[in-house]
Amino acid sequence: MDLGAALADHLEFLGELGVPGLSEDPAWRERPGERTAQAGGTAAGSQDEGAEVASNTAGAELEAVRLELGEDCDRCKLHRLGRRQVVFGVGNPEARLMFVGEAPGRDEDEQGIPFVGRAGQLLTKMIEAMGYRRDEVYIANVIKCRPPENRNPQPDEVFACEPFLFRQVEAIRPAVIVALGTFAAQALLKTQDSISRLRGRVFKYGGARLIPTFHPAYLLRSPERKRDAWEDLKRAKALLEQDGDPSSET
Ligand code: URA
Repeated sequence: MDLGAALADHLEFLGELGVPGLSEDPAWRERPGERTAQAGGTAAGSQDEGAEVASNTAGAELEAVRLELGEDCDRCKLHRLGRRQVVFGVGNPEARLMFVGEAPGRDEDEQGIPFVGRAGQLLTKMIEAMGYRRDEVYIANVIKCRPPENRNPQPDEVFACEPFLFRQVEAIRPAVIVALGTFAAQALLKTQDSISRLRGRVFKYGGARLIPTFHPAYLLRSPERKRDAWEDLKRAKALLEQDGDPSSET
C-alpha cells in the first residue's frame, strides 16, 4: 500500500471511530517515544522516576505469575478441550495502560499472543488511534486458554483463571485499565451488569481507573458502536494524561 492509500485508510478508520478531524493539539500528535525522551515516560508507559527499578520489579513479578500459571495449566477443563497453548499476555510490564479481553481465539491459540486475529487487528488500530503503540501497553485476557468453538467462557473457567489476571494487574500496576467487553468488565468489577450498562463510566480498580468498553469483536459486528468505543478510549487517554486525583470518580 502506498503512503497516500495508507493515509486514506487510516483517516477512514478514524472516521469510523467517530473522530471528527485531526487535532491541532501538539500533545495529541506527539509520538509516545518522543515523550519518553522529553518527560522521562510516556502516557501509556512508565512515568516513575525509578522506571528502571520499577520495570525490573514489574517484569520479575509478571514472570513469577507466568511461571506459576505454567505452560501446561490444567486448573480447568479447557486443557482437555483442544487448546494448543496457554496465552498469558503481551506488552510492556510497566505499562500505564492495560487492556483486558475475554479469551484467546483460534489465531491467539496458534500464536500464543492475545489479540492477533481480526478483533486483535482492530484493537491494535484502536490503540494506535489513541496515539500509542501496541508494544507500550499491556494486553491480557480473563481466561488464558481458548474455549472450544470460541464459545463464551464458563463460570468455572473464569473462577479458575481470573486470579492470574488479578495478579497480572498487581504486577503491572497500570494507571488505567480498559476492560474489553462483558466478561472482562464483569470479572474485574465483580458485577453481573452487561457492558452496555457499564460503559460510559469510570470505575476504580485498586489504584487504577477502569473503563469498560465494547469488545473489538462486537465492534466488528456492530460498527455503529465504534463511536461510543472511541469516546471511552478518549476518556482513558485523558485519564492517563492528567496528573490523576484517584478520588475524582464519575
Ligand atoms: N478476543 C479476546 O477477548 N481476546 C483475544 O485475545 C482475542 C480475541
